[in-house]
Formats: sequence, C-alpha cells, structure tokens
Amino acid sequence: MCGIVGYVGPRASEKALDVVMEGLGRLEYRGYDSAGVAVVAGDRVDTRKRAGKLGNLRSAITDAPLPETATAIGHTRWATHGGPTDENAHPHRGGRDGKLALVHNGIIENFHSLRSRLAAEGVEFTSETDTEVVAHLLSAAFDRTGDLTTAMRETVAELHGAFTLLAVHADQPDTVVGARRNSPLVVGLGEGENFLGSDVAAFIGHTRHALELGQDQIVTITPDSYTVVNFDGTPSDGKAYEVTWDAAEAEKGGYATFMEKEINDQPHAVADTLLGRTDSEGRLALDELHISEDELRAVTKIVIVACGTAAYAGMVAKYAIEHWTRIPVEVELAHEFRYRDPVIDEHTLVVSISQSGETMDTLMAVRHAKELGARTVSICNTHGSTIPRESDAVLYTHAGPEIAVASTKAFLAQITASYILGLYLASLRGTAYGEDAAQVMAELATVPGKIEELLTRMDRVKEIAYYMADSRSVLFLGRHVGYPVAMEGALKLKELAYIHAEGFAAGELKHGPIALIEPGQPVFVIVPSPGVEHGLHDKVVSNIQEIRARGARTLVIAEEGDEDVVPFADEVIRVPHTSPLLAPLLTVVPLQVFALHLSTAKGLDVDQPRNLAKSVTVE
Ligand code: F6R
Repeated sequence: MCGIVGYVGPRASEKALDVVMEGLGRLEYRGYDSAGVAVVAGDRVDTRKRAGKLGNLRSAITDAPLPETATAIGHTRWATHGGPTDENAHPHRGGRDGKLALVHNGIIENFHSLRSRLAAEGVEFTSETDTEVVAHLLSAAFDRTGDLTTAMRETVAELHGAFTLLAVHADQPDTVVGARRNSPLVVGLGEGENFLGSDVAAFIGHTRHALELGQDQIVTITPDSYTVVNFDGTPSDGKAYEVTWDAAEAEKGGYATFMEKEINDQPHAVADTLLGRTDSEGRLALDELHISEDELRAVTKIVIVACGTAAYAGMVAKYAIEHWTRIPVEVELAHEFRYRDPVIDEHTLVVSISQSGETMDTLMAVRHAKELGARTVSICNTHGSTIPRESDAVLYTHAGPEIAVASTKAFLAQITASYILGLYLASLRGTAYGEDAAQVMAELATVPGKIEELLTRMDRVKEIAYYMADSRSVLFLGRHVGYPVAMEGALKLKELAYIHAEGFAAGELKHGPIALIEPGQPVFVIVPSPGVEHGLHDKVVSNIQEIRARGARTLVIAEEGDEDVVPFADEVIRVPHTSPLLAPLLTVVPLQVFALHLSTAKGLDVDQPRNLAKSVTVE
C-alpha cells in the first residue's frame, strides 16, 4: 500500500521528475487515492500533489510546471490517516523553511503523542496525516545535525509502527535518504544514477541491478554512491541481486488492462513455476529449500497462512498436500492465526503464501510462527521481499510482475508451487504418492497448454458477463478443490464489479444457503470431474437440480464430455480434462474472465478497483 519512488542522477541530465513520474505510473497499483512529487531545485524543494489518480497530478504539473532537476521523490497513496485530499497527499514538508520533503508508506502508531508535542512547541500542521509529523521531526533533526542520514537515524528512533520513509533536503541536493521498518524499500543501482522504490517496478525501465535492504535500515543514495546503515548506526552492505524480468513484462503488451494481460500470462506463470524443479531423471529437486531433509521428514503438521486469494490457493493446496503426504494441513487467514494461541512446535512447518511478500498480516503470522519454534517456508512471487527474507526457506513462484490489483496469475502459480512442495514432501517421506510424484509433475506440465486452449474460447463467458451486468447478487458453489475456487470466483466479482457474491461449499447448500435461491438468481457451479472419488460429481449434479428446481439460473463449469450436467444447466462452460486435484488451475479461469468482463461492462476500472490497493502493507 502506497508506492514510493526516489531518484538522484547527474546534475547535467535533470531528468528526475520524468523518472519519478514513470516510477509512480508503475507503482500506482499500490494505491491511487492521491499522488505527489517533490523536486530539489536550487535552495528549495518544490512539490505538486493532487487527490485522485496519477492523471490528476500530471494535469497539475502541466498547469504549473516544475523545474527540471536531478533529484526527486514521489508517492502514490492509499489513505490511512486523513482522507484522500490534496492537503493529505504526500510529499509533506517539514520545518518553517520548507526545505525538506518526505514521503511515507505505513502507519506511525505513536503519531498522536508526537503531534501533540510538536503542536505544543508551536508547529502548525497543514494536513491530518501521521507523515507530516515525521517531516517536522526530521526537519528539526536536520537543523541540529546538518546531515540528512544522521537526522533520519535520530528521527526513526522516535517512531513506533511500520514505515518506509524517503526524504530530500535542499541543503543536501544530490541525496535521497530512505528508511524502512516492516515496509518495503529496494534500491536500484544505475550508472551515475541511483533509485529507490517500494518495489523494483519503480525503476525497472532503467536498471535491473537491485539491492535488498534488511529490516530497520537506512539507505543514502547519491548519483554515484549508496550507503546502508542499521538504525543503530552500524554499517551494512545490503544484498545485491539481478531482477529477472524486464520493463516489457510490467506493461500491458497490447491488452486493454493489466488484468486481461495477466489472465493471458497464466500458461507461462504455471510453466515457469514448474521450471527447474526436477532433476534430469524427472525427480523433484528443491535445492532452494534450505531446510534439511531430516527436518522435513520430521514434520508432523503443516499450517498454511495467507490472506485473500493467496489463502484460497492454500485451501486448494490442503486437499492435495494431505492426500499426497498424509501430513495434516491447516489453512488459516494470517490475521486470525496471529491473534490466537495456535498449537505449534518445532515439528510444525508453517507455509506462508504471498504474491507481494510484503502483506503485513502474513509477515506478522510468519514472525509469530517463528517465535513459537516452527520452521517457515514462504511461497512468494517477489524476489527479495520481506516475507521470504524472514522465512527459513523460500519457494519462488515465477508468475512475473502482477500489476492488476486483483490477483490472477499469482493464484495459479501459488497452487503450482504448493503442489511442488507437497509432492516433494511426499517423496521425502516415501508415501505412495511420493513414488508417483514424477507422474503428477508430468501431468502438471500439460496444464499450461490446457489453460492456453481454454483461453481461446472465452467468448461466451464474455457475452454472459455483458448480459449479467445488472446483476445484484451472484452465488458460486463448489466442492472439494472446487470449494476454494468458488470463493475465489466470488472474491473476484466483489472486488472488480462491486456485486454481492458468495462462494459456498455445495454440500452446505441445504444447511442454509439454499434459502437465498429465488427465481433468476445466477449461480455458478463448479462441477468436479466425473472421475473424482466418492461420487462427488453426482452429488454436485444433484445440487444443480435442486437449485434449478427453485428457479436459479445455473452457470455450470464442467469438464469436456461431462454430459450429465447438460439437462440442468442454463449455460455450460467447458474446461479441458485433467485429474481432479489439478482442476482448479483450469476451473478458476472462466471465473476470472467473467469478473473482468462484468467489471468492464459496468464501465469500472478493472486494474484499480475502488478502495483497494495491491500489497497490503498495513494491518
Ligand atoms: C484479491 C487479492 C488479494 C491478495 C491478498 C494477499 O484479488 O489480490 O486478496 O491475494 O491481499 O496478497 P499477497 O499475495 O501479496 O500477500
């Protein structure tokens, strides 16, 4: 939440504003309540900021141009303290001379007491934000010390909460100073220029050389240097790495929206996540999982922690991992896990799933699990982000950058990576399915082609979405692995089309939800493959009959060749055949496409739905 960008380059080039505006464009998915920039110009700092999307800031700069400079910072906001107004937009200035500007991502928990203290000292505030308080503290510290890095160290010592801060000061014009605690910040290393960003997308158009920062660190960049110190002043090096994707992947590539592009990226997301996880004989080889085989064999329980779509991926994974490994698996929303008293010990493996690797709730759950003695594995899509860094081991998904706020390709990659982990554990423990792991991996390898084929025949789903644009409520039913898919379908519709939507376990229908069925009520039903065990297919077909008999409009997602559903379906959306546990990788696709088109049909912003932001870095 909130995107921040900092840039410092050679004085001769004076391109700081362009670089920062480009970076903000790439980070806008992190928040779009307001946007602003500050440039260091001569002995002053100039700012422009506007409520609303980045376009408003662009217009403000066109109306009142800013000087060309070599140093700038920028911010795109998801509002926490103070509404989304021009005044509350970042950057905020500190001090009476207005020479300092600051941007912030996070929440300063003790801002009330700091604000009261500053007010008593005569400071006048122009906004309601916690950030402005920090700007004044930092300005005063600069006046005392004459150095922005030292001033930042003094200031962060007074702050409680989570924050990434970037600051510039007119008296130190070739410098941007950043600080991070529990919020993301990465450094981009260029030739004669350096960058700071909430994530690498901020500078991917300029450099792929990046530097990871640790917790509680301050970084100072100038055009040709960077230094990292811990909050206690001891020096640190940071950890350099190369970004594996390029600017083209962070662009729409001819699609109308990022979400449409990302849905179409899904065959690659699955294929790339499978890549390099087997040896030459097809056996699973997870060298990257830095937990010993003995420790993994000793695991007695797995707890998956995640939020939102990632939690639904975890719910899908539970069915497969338990089936393959015979290890009990619990799935818990990270924010609930942290605040109860879970039964965890050193034989518990806590698996976090997070696209961004920065979700605060999930990060806190991982820390909680570590305190309780568990071993922790992160399934994550963002290299070098906080959650994998703080976990004992990481299994990266290779979905590429996901920019649309609603998660799509990360979901498929998360299921794929969890399955790889499950199969690996099964093979280590010598369960029956461990022996069959190569066969399941071979079948997983056929899934990208099937998604590709499925995506070529989504025209009818689009038509259905358009004529359902006025719907006020849509229900989703699924069973077994189709149950989390039903909830994911409902979540996509809520967040993208602002329609009331609920996903239910089909078996639960007669225990209450069937009362919601009235004539015309649209219900998506995800039908298990006819080959699924325990007759579940037939039970779900019976559920379709039951709701149809009460007037529901049935939109049935069923495998090719499943003719049993035809008499009871108003629409049948076909997906290619695969084994039951792999089916979610296909059945979710029409639901994503449906939500995308329904949102478009209503004229909504598909990539940036209201009130939301990607990467929820506050609790
Ligand atoms: C929904 C969505 C969210 C995220 C959730 C976790 O479309 O994107 O529900 O899945 O906020 O985010 P990550 O995976 O970054 O931890």
